[in-house]
Amino acid sequence: MKVLASASDTYWLIDQLRTQGKRIGLVPTMGALHQGHLSLVQRAKEQTDVAVVTIFVNPTQFGPNEDFQKYPRTLQSDIEQLESCGCDLVFTPTNQQMYPLGHSTFIEPPSVAKDWEGKIRPGHFRGVATIVMKLFQIIPAHVGYFGRKDYQQVAVIRAMARDLNLPILIQACETIRETDGLAMSSRNRYLSPSQRARALGLSKALKMGQTLIDQGCTSGQTIEDAMRIELTKAPVDSIDYAAVVHPDTLEPVESIDGPVVGIIAARIGNTRLIDNATFIRG
Ligand code: PAF
Repeated sequence: MKVLASASDTYWLIDQLRTQGKRIGLVPTMGALHQGHLSLVQRAKEQTDVAVVTIFVNPTQFGPNEDFQKYPRTLQSDIEQLESCGCDLVFTPTNQQMYPLGHSTFIEPPSVAKDWEGKIRPGHFRGVATIVMKLFQIIPAHVGYFGRKDYQQVAVIRAMARDLNLPILIQACETIRETDGLAMSSRNRYLSPSQRARALGLSKALKMGQTLIDQGCTSGQTIEDAMRIELTKAPVDSIDYAAVVHPDTLEPVESIDGPVVGIIAARIGNTRLIDNATFIRG
């Protein structure tokens, strides 16, 4: 496995591999890798010839009062895990590489970025869209792999790829969960044992949503109320949103007559967690 920090070395290596006819699979990450990330690498290995992972804690997607400074940085163990799962190339740029002095060009995110995370974390998707676009330039991959735990992020990146005619296929991969249902996240490591137990409220609320659908419920509002009750029972400390939305537009759905997605963001102590699930009528 090669580890490169230089954007131009990385670009030219990928260019050479493409010339040899290799298909490139890209997994952008901010490090602090867990089984969820490794499952994306696994998918890239299955579907393409060269699995590339990027590790960069992107400052522009964090708000001023968010966890950029304390975001876990575990480069050595990340590299070891990537090596043992058969990753081919890791790109670990510095801040200076990605945001050289005078950097002032940003991507205006698509309209699907407007609500939910976009509302609560102003500027977040501008930072995400910008860094992902830059990574796509440095690593012109055939397929980009993203975890569906960040449901709105995937929608934003898909819309950006469509709107800007990017020649890359965006693949969303299933959320990997702990055996008790907690969605894997780099931020789970902030949780104390008792907070970790309360964090189960998110997946329990989503299960409750599916149960109501199974029972024939067609009201988005009823499901939203039931999810909020489940979150309050956990208890989470605050709920940023709990909603039932259309899978593509992320607009709230009042009357359910097809697949919908339950999306949740809640805080436990200082930790903000998100989760989602597609609700399907059996
Ligand atoms: O999902 C993430 O880890 C980040 O938002 C991403 C896509 C790597 C961009 O920094």
